[in-house]
Amino acid sequence: MALRLRSARGSDAPVIAELHIASWRDAYRGILSQEFLDTGIEGEFNAHWATTLSGRRRAGAVIVAMAGRHLAGFVAAWREGVNCHVDNLHVRPGMRNAGIGRALLGFAAQRLQDQGAVSADLWVIAANQGAMRFYLSLGAEVEAPTTRVTFGQTVTERRLYWPGITNLIAACAR
Ligand SMILES: CC(C)(COP(=O)(O)OP(=O)(O)OC[C@H]1O[C@@H](n2cnc3c(N)ncnc32)[C@H](O)[C@@H]1OP(=O)(O)O)[C@@H](O)C(=O)NCCC(=O)NCCS
Repeated sequence: MALRLRSARGSDAPVIAELHIASWRDAYRGILSQEFLDTGIEGEFNAHWATTLSGRRRAGAVIVAMAGRHLAGFVAAWREGVNCHVDNLHVRPGMRNAGIGRALLGFAAQRLQDQGAVSADLWVIAANQGAMRFYLSLGAEVEAPTTRVTFGQTVTERRLYWPGITNLIAACAR
């Protein structure tokens, strides 16, 4: 089915939260606490997306990939000075490895470049090997592992970055 990428609307908040929750439960099982994935995550993500997509928005872009009427994936990237910080990138379990993540990331990076971003970065949980391979295949540079606290849980993460956002956009287009 053809994929359509567009900016997220306020009315997309519940379905983005639903996909975000499903993706975390799939990708972070055995990495984050089971209790948080089973229960805590729902309130956190529903509140986050309701707030993020209402009222005055941060500089950046939230992009959804629609397969017909169904949400296949989404990306949120914020402009921090002249950097594009990719906060979230998720493709629905069962629809991965079909180019949707790359299309979303390239689309958002282009939007942020149009807003003045010249570089890009993001954090990846070090144990998320699939995501690490995905970003490395797109030419990311990697910093040393560091311990951070995410939703009250201590995890080892790595910062990945592209000194030139143009290289990220080109890699996503290949
Ligand atoms: C990581 C993620 C966003 C990638 O999106 P995707 O649609 O699956 O990836 P794409 O199909 O666009 O992949 C592009 C390339 O990366 C490779 N790739 C993607 N996921 C991969 C994986 N898990 N392991 C190895 N390679 C992978 C693909 O083979 C493809 O390379 P190719 O075109 O040369 O064959 C998606 O798998 C996902 O949602 N994962 C769970 C959530 C997550 O980890 N998000 C990132 C948090 S930082």
